[in-house]
Amino acid sequence: MPHALILGGTGLIGRATVLRLLAAGWRVDVTGRNPANMPSEVTDAGGRFIQADRADADRLRVAVGDGVDLLVDCVCYTAADARLLLPLAEDARSTVLVSSKAVYVDAAGNHANSDVEPRFDGPIRESQAIMAPGDMDYRSREGYGANKVAAEHVALDSGLPISILRPSFVHGVGAAPAREWVFVKRVLDRRPTVLLARRGTGIMHPTAAANIAALIETVAHAPGARVLNVADPDAPNALDICRMIARHLEHEWEELLLDDTADPDLGRTPWDSAHPVILDTSAARRLGYRPAGDYAATVAAQIDWLVHAASTGDPAGVLPSASDPYFSRFFDYQAEDEFLARRG
Ligand SMILES: NC(=O)c1ccc[n+]([C@@H]2O[C@H](COP(=O)([O-])OP(=O)(O)OC[C@H]3O[C@@H](n4cnc5c(N)ncnc54)[C@H](OP(=O)(O)O)[C@@H]3O)[C@@H](O)[C@H]2O)c1
Repeated sequence: MPHALILGGTGLIGRATVLRLLAAGWRVDVTGRNPANMPSEVTDAGGRFIQADRADADRLRVAVGDGVDLLVDCVCYTAADARLLLPLAEDARSTVLVSSKAVYVDAAGNHANSDVEPRFDGPIRESQAIMAPGDMDYRSREGYGANKVAAEHVALDSGLPISILRPSFVHGVGAAPAREWVFVKRVLDRRPTVLLARRGTGIMHPTAAANIAALIETVAHAPGARVLNVADPDAPNALDICRMIARHLEHEWEELLLDDTADPDLGRTPWDSAHPVILDTSAARRLGYRPAGDYAATVAAQIDWLVHAASTGDPAGVLPSASDPYFSRFFDYQAEDEFLARRG
């Protein structure tokens, strides 16, 4: 029975990956700091939790034991993290390092976390320019992508069979932030109108955790040193996403598509890019990757998970609070109502 070890495997990507591998007959161990974060469905399916901080080299060494067929690192954010991964990867047949599309820069040097939004020429290939490596705080806007690049360099320079995956906006059960909450909450609040900035044309390519899991299983059987984009087979815009969620929840609302003359704070969503951000996934496909499903098919479980949490009083605390700094900008109902009242 092949054996996988997933570092930081109790979260969004880990959950989807463990469930997929277990269903395919693997033995799977996951590490995390807090056993309470181990999803019960993963334990029920046969996943084993090992308490180990990502920085605890000794505990991780024990977790790898005599070696694993697949090692996945969901919590590699810096070059130092990647250096800790290398001795473990030496004892793994195939290793996956989860990076991010945030590493890409456009011709002007802008990236996903720049003040100026990037403008890519078309679907982004792995050969697109990336940020310079950096070691500033990886939790900062400039530091996130730069540190990911530094981590990627450590992995690629090692010559070990480490596949670097670059997802876009990841969705799935366990997502934090669960960006789709922007529309799900509106449905639960029975909002009769949904406002969409930029006429809902923004595109930030979604990546289902289930699709990352599919690619991880592919590279488990094809060890190698490489970089691969991973994203859903379709790239819906904000209006498409709004409609899919409303349809899934059987909710009807008036769509108000705002143009550039509108107050920029109205109708904001996480997908409001000025220019499409779409990942080219042909390299993954050439390797044999077959997506688990398109956006509508793969996002359904996450929507149901959010609705279930809301309807049961959110005992696990998975829903964003009213003061959540990421979400509060999307829920200014008072400003919307004033705008709608003025409109008549
Ligand atoms: N979400 C996105 O849209 C997105 C987009 C692009 C790339 N990514 C990349 O995806 C990766 C995150 O994966 P994810 O979404 O599955 O994350 P996640 O949902 O936050 O899960 C990470 C898990 O790792 C555990 N963990 C955190 N810090 C740890 C540490 N120091 N030692 C051991 N375990 C630790 C956490 O449990 P404990 O707290 O109990 O330890 C948590 O359950 C990151 O590399 C990120 O850069 C995410």
